[in-house]
Amino acid sequence: MDKRAYNSIQNFSKIIYTKAVVNKEDLPKKEEIVILTYKGKFVAKALYNPNSVIIKILTTKNEDIDYDFFYKRILNAKLYREEILNYKNTYRWIYAEGDELPTIIFDKYNELGAMQLMSKLIEKKYLNEIIEALFELSDLETIYVKKGKKGEKIKDKIFGNKKKFETVIQEGEAKFKVNVKGHKTGFFLDQRENRLYLERFIKEGDRVLDVCCYTGGFSVHAAIRGAEVVGVDLSKKALKTAEENMELNNIPKDKYEFIEGNAFKIMEEFIEDGERFDVVILDPPAFAQTEKNLKNALRAYSSLNYLGIRLTNRMLITCSCSHHVDKELFKKTVISSAFRAKKNMVIVDYKGQAPDHPITIGNRNLEYLKCMFLSVRR
Ligand SMILES: C[S@@+](CC[C@H](N)C(=O)[O-])C[C@H]1O[C@@H](n2cnc3c(N)ncnc32)[C@H](O)[C@@H]1O
Repeated sequence: MDKRAYNSIQNFSKIIYTKAVVNKEDLPKKEEIVILTYKGKFVAKALYNPNSVIIKILTTKNEDIDYDFFYKRILNAKLYREEILNYKNTYRWIYAEGDELPTIIFDKYNELGAMQLMSKLIEKKYLNEIIEALFELSDLETIYVKKGKKGEKIKDKIFGNKKKFETVIQEGEAKFKVNVKGHKTGFFLDQRENRLYLERFIKEGDRVLDVCCYTGGFSVHAAIRGAEVVGVDLSKKALKTAEENMELNNIPKDKYEFIEGNAFKIMEEFIEDGERFDVVILDPPAFAQTEKNLKNALRAYSSLNYLGIRLTNRMLITCSCSHHVDKELFKKTVISSAFRAKKNMVIVDYKGQAPDHPITIGNRNLEYLKCMFLSVRR
C-alpha cells in the first residue's frame, strides 16, 4: 500500500481506498480476506470486495480470523455499551467499523436481535461463529439476519426461536413495540438520546407535529409529557405500529392523530389551512444516498425545513441521517431556510447519534446523524 494509507492505518483508520494498494495485480477476483503490506512488512488483514472502492480493515495483528476473533470483538462491543454507557437490555451492539467489525450491524432488543449484513463472504464463512458468540454472550433467544445497504445476495435467516419477531422495549418512561422485520433493523436506536432530550421542551397541552414519524418514536415521548400529537409518514404499516405504541403508553385516543402521506404535501396543506404547532419535529430518511445526489438532497432538506419553520410557533427539532451532508452543511441549510421563512431562531443545541453508534478518532466517517434543536426568537 502507499505511505498515506499506511499512515492512516497507524492512526486507527479502518478503511483504505483500493487505489492505495500498490500491487493491484495481487488482489483477488472475488471477495476475500487479503493481507496488506507496506515495504514488504505485514500491516493488516482486510476484507476486499472487487465491487467496492474501499478495503475494510479487520485486524492490524497477524491473527487468525476465527471464532475467538469475533468473540473478543463482540465482547468488547458489549462491555462498551454496558459498562461505559450503562445501557441495559436494548442497544446497538455492533456498529460495523465503529466496533472493528466491518459490514456488520446488530441491534439487541431485549431477547430479540436484528442483524444487517453487508458481506457475502462474512455470511458464508463466519455467520455461524458470530451468531454463536452473540448467543453465548447474552440472553438473546432469536436473531434475525437480513441484508444491509449494499449487502446484495444475502438471504434473510432466523436463528434460535423462529417465531419471535416482535418485542417491547423501554426508552426512559416510554415503551415501544419493535418488529425486526420493519425498516432497517426495526427501530431507530440512533435517535434514542434525542427522543429523551425532546421531553424537556414539551409542555402540557402543546400541539406537536412529528414529520416522518415512523412508529412514533418522538410522538410517544411528546405525548407522555402531555402533548397532543400529529404524526405524518408514508408507511401505513409504521403508522399502525405508531398507534399501537400510543395505546401501549396509555395515551388517550383523542390526543393523537397519524396521517399517511407525503410530508411535503401535508405540510403545505397545513400552512394553507393556517394550522400551527408549538413544536415541529423533522426526521426524514437520508435524502443524500450518494455524493452524486447531494444537490437534490440539499434542496429537499431546504424545502422540508422551510415548511417546518413556517409551521412552528416555538420549537423546531430537525434531523438529517445523510452521511454526505456534514454537520456544518446541514446547519447552513437549516439556517438559510429560517432566513427564507423570515423567522429569527436560536440554536438551542446540536446533537448527533446515540453513543452506541460509536465514532472513533480514526473513523469520523462513522458520524452521520445530526439533530438540531432550535427555538423561535420572540
Ligand atoms: C428516519 S425514519 C424516522 C424515525 C422516527 N423519527 C423514529 O424516531 O423512530 C424516516 C421515516 O420517514 C418516512 N418517509 C420517507 N419519505 C417520506 C415522505 N416523503 N413523507 C412522509 N414520510 C416519509 C419513512 O417511511 C420513515 O418511517
